[in-house]
Amino acid sequence: MPAQNLDWKNLSFQYLPTDGYVGCDFADGKWGPLQVKQDPHIPMHIAANCLHYGQAIFEGLKAFTTKDGRVVLFRPDRNADRLANSARRLAMEAPPLELFLEACRKAVAHNRSFVPPYGTGASMYLRPLVIGTEPTIGIKPSSTYSFIVMVTPVGPYYKDGFKPVDALVMEEYDRAAPKGTGQAKMAGNYAASLLPGLEAKKKGYPIVLFSDPKENKYVDEFGTSNFLGITAAGEYKTPDSPSILQSITNESLQVLAADMGLRVVRAPIALDALEQFAEVGACGTAAVITPVYSVTRGARKLTFGRPDQAGETLTRLYKALQGIQYGEIPDTHGWLAPV
Ligand SMILES: Cc1ncc(COP(=O)(O)O)c(C=O)c1O
Repeated sequence: MPAQNLDWKNLSFQYLPTDGYVGCDFADGKWGPLQVKQDPHIPMHIAANCLHYGQAIFEGLKAFTTKDGRVVLFRPDRNADRLANSARRLAMEAPPLELFLEACRKAVAHNRSFVPPYGTGASMYLRPLVIGTEPTIGIKPSSTYSFIVMVTPVGPYYKDGFKPVDALVMEEYDRAAPKGTGQAKMAGNYAASLLPGLEAKKKGYPIVLFSDPKENKYVDEFGTSNFLGITAAGEYKTPDSPSILQSITNESLQVLAADMGLRVVRAPIALDALEQFAEVGACGTAAVITPVYSVTRGARKLTFGRPDQAGETLTRLYKALQGIQYGEIPDTHGWLAPV
């Protein structure tokens, strides 16, 4: 569908065809030139490493049209860094910082008409990925890789205001292993979270809270977002765990929380100590913050604030971050990168 026919305010979080994507390949020890490609299908060897042994990592970030009409990316350097970390853990190649940034800029610029206008609450979602493409039957890292940046416009996450959600602590499954790949944004972690997610949904819980995989005593993170809690004493607490993804939203919210005078605490959070929180949220690129009304663990259900509205501190943090992303609040931390 041509971009001008899109109903920006009612787009959901799904793939929409655009004018193309940007990609380049790694072979003979180096990355080739970036190319813009139209066909969303890629030819692949049936023995490609990513299909059999899971060398597949990705990122997620957004581009926004600001109030003054610029198109900006939010902290793309942090995504480049996290992709490099994921690549290291999976013995893969990752594009160097400049190549990553150039690919993101190019993918957005090429699809300029698909970047939602300011005031719609919508944004452009960028999905960079790297896959091992060498045919491999014996287990070993691929020597060839494809790096792709695809984009798709996505609508506002909250069309009718904040909707607090009910979370279920998943006792039957872990999302990551101790000393495993929880810190890597790899495809397999998400495949592993699908069944627990489906089972939680069947029981009426839209999101899953995973505990630490070693002792199942501490909060790890939600299926696709980090955990944060606000105490009545004015603290912003978030788990310090080796098996969670380092959320760039969480990292940014911690800076804004400190700016607001909250005390930021990164430490293990016992599942038995959730009563300390006046507000709980799930944070990530897609929604910035999803307020969590309740956490159920076995027969016990704890609630935080009101079921129909987010708490005051989470609302302030949400507005502060979104305000920067849309250029409504000065970007004092230098987080916006022009396209
Ligand atoms: C497992 C997991 N944790 C946390 C996050 C949030 O990370 P970010 O804020 O960088 O989007 C995501 C989403 O990308 C995720 O998939």
